[in-house]
Amino acid sequence: MSDLQFDARGRLRHLLTLEGIGRPLLTSLLDRAEAFRVAPGEAPRRHTWLAGRTVANLFFEPSTRTRASFELAARRLGADVINLDIQASSAVKGESLEDTLYTLEAMNVDVFVVRHKDVGVQALMASHAAPHVHVLNAGEAHLSHPTQGLLDAFTIRRHKPDLANLSVAIVGDIKHSRVARSALRALVTLGVRDIRLAGPKTLLPKKGELKGELFTDADKAVRGADVVMMLRIQKERMQKAAVPSAAAYFKRYGLDARRLKLAKPDAIVMHPGPMNRGIEISAEVADGPRSVIREQVSNGVAVRMAVLQGFYT
Ligand code: NCD
Repeated sequence: MSDLQFDARGRLRHLLTLEGIGRPLLTSLLDRAEAFRVAPGEAPRRHTWLAGRTVANLFFEPSTRTRASFELAARRLGADVINLDIQASSAVKGESLEDTLYTLEAMNVDVFVVRHKDVGVQALMASHAAPHVHVLNAGEAHLSHPTQGLLDAFTIRRHKPDLANLSVAIVGDIKHSRVARSALRALVTLGVRDIRLAGPKTLLPKKGELKGELFTDADKAVRGADVVMMLRIQKERMQKAAVPSAAAYFKRYGLDARRLKLAKPDAIVMHPGPMNRGIEISAEVADGPRSVIREQVSNGVAVRMAVLQGFYT
């Protein structure tokens, strides 16, 4: 699948996964995103990189941040944007993904931003797409969420540039998390060596499946960390309840002020959203001085602009 995303000249044509994207390309994407950051209250600049282009958002799963930020990113680069309402689309009448692709291509859609609960949908679309068309993965099952991985790496790099000496703790439902997988991929590519993955046994990946040390004790994982990334429990990807009550979970794995004190004093707190306050993170920590959660959201627009711009430079 990672081959499918490069053209014959080795340029990124689709963004399907961070697998196969080496440090130079990853770093250049993050560097270009710097130029698209907007200070709070500032009016974002309008660019023309995507003038005359059309971007279609196809979200077969719910989304707030990712969808809105792709839309803003595309508009700020000068593109037209359509947001297909999947529930009200012909997908519910049984139209295939390929036919949905061909239909929108016939209306000159140039970029497809796709989120789906199944593995392989983005690659399938990329393999059928016309030569000038780009497919962007906005969340693939539990497997990957490349632009989230990029925005997480971007946010970490801004606060903690010494990546080789960083300790990163990712806590929660790792097993079902595409965010954890893509963040991990980006961080490993950028040279982060100390990555700890913590959660209840039922929500941890199999030993050896992911790079990173596994912990069932959240305190141990968070101790001395520079970055603490909290994850939501993905009930929608579970067969049956694999977690104890919310209160019991919060006590063992939730990030409150006491647990955060175990991390480095200048540690940053991250969460991809949507947050469940009181389950994986306390409101006090989510809104506290160490939290960069809203900054992650802002950075998401800049990073997505950099990816889209890259297709047209
Ligand atoms: C996540 C997702 O959809 O993978 N959210 C996001 O894109 N920021 C994480 C989640 O749903 O918990």
